[in-house]
Amino acid sequence: MERVKITRFYFFAAAMVATMILPSWSWAEKNFSSKHMNEPIQPLEAPVVDKHKVALGDKLFHDPRLSADDSISCASCHSLDLGGTDNQPRSLGIKGQLGAVNAPTVFNSGFNLAQFWNGRASTLEEQAAGPIHNPVEMGSNFKQVIEKLSADREYVQQFQAIYPDQGITSETLVDAIATFERSLVTIDSPFDRYLRGEEHAINAREKRGYELFQDYGCVACHQGKNVGGNMYQKFGIMDDYFAKKTLTDADNGRFSVTGFEEDRFVFKVPGLRLAVLTAPYFHNGSTETLEEAINTMAHYQLGRTIPKEDVEYIIDFLHSLVGQYKGKTL
Ligand code: HEC
Ligand code: HEC
Repeated sequence: MERVKITRFYFFAAAMVATMILPSWSWAEKNFSSKHMNEPIQPLEAPVVDKHKVALGDKLFHDPRLSADDSISCASCHSLDLGGTDNQPRSLGIKGQLGAVNAPTVFNSGFNLAQFWNGRASTLEEQAAGPIHNPVEMGSNFKQVIEKLSADREYVQQFQAIYPDQGITSETLVDAIATFERSLVTIDSPFDRYLRGEEHAINAREKRGYELFQDYGCVACHQGKNVGGNMYQKFGIMDDYFAKKTLTDADNGRFSVTGFEEDRFVFKVPGLRLAVLTAPYFHNGSTETLEEAINTMAHYQLGRTIPKEDVEYIIDFLHSLVGQYKGKTL
């Protein structure tokens, strides 16, 4: 009798525990994706874009005829094999001229709230006109480029097929380039797979790095789909980053766009999706390693120091953010 009671009690207790745990377990199993969907970082989705425009934009992006002396294409400074950058502190334009700032990646740029370090172009279409006309980059203009492309039968046919009413114009030129850029999305990174429910897509070190990235407060600025790119922030919140430096025009950041004093030294927070590939760092390209960049962030943005081992965990996390383009991990 006694034994039966005890057994029954255990059975009852086990059943209670099971009803409490099992549903939540199976809920978690089914809804892993929703479990990680409220994170401050969201996964990237495969872009839906017109593939004919993408093919045309791809060709234009790699065509040096967009520059005055046919020497430089967009890809010269934004190599798709180098994380969408040139890995130079500052880019070299036509005739070996040195640009004012570091070239950011073109990958995932469609997710940014605006383009350029100071956000002076509000769309990718507006942005594309920039380098073509910039005297130290491509040093050309739409008229010259359209003339050159109009002499190329293949381009004429391609533009006619896609834009039958317009052909080659400044609008269709930038539309094709911008559409191509919107296709440059690095999907299926280990971290995104983790966010979508593959609990083991990232290892323990990468997970720890993500925790630290949140705990130290990096995520307050580097967040959303592009792990950045969705807000402007001052560079030097806790200490004056520019104190001992010779100031350049580019250092003024958003002040150059708005003219408001409070926008001096304010920059678009860069996306960190491909940070492990895009050294050197910061708008001035002054910082060679990620370790150094993170230490600078800790000091000037967060007013603290971060122990070396935590910096290494954060770097591991940043590695897990690198996704795939055309089926290959960058
Ligand atoms: C000579 C090097 C060079 C060339 C050529 C060049 N770029 Fe850039 N690109 C840069 C630099 C430097 C910046 C940053 C400029 C700034 O913020 O003021 C930049 C910024 C950008 C951005 C903004 C990214 C962001 O996160 O703000 C995009 C998009 C871009 N370029 C696309 C292009 C396209 C498209 C072309 C060809 C039409 C092109 N670039 C040609 C160097 C270059
Ligand atoms: C208050 C906002 C803010 C916080 C907090 C912050 N950052 Fe940044 N981060 C920025 C801004 C703004 C820049 C661009 C600065 C510049 O180059 O002008 C930047 C640049 C970077 C860069 C260089 C990216 C590149 O492509 O050049 C890295 C790497 C970086 N941050 C990592 C971190 C890490 C890791 C943390 C946490 C330890 C962190 N940031 C905290 C705002 C912030």
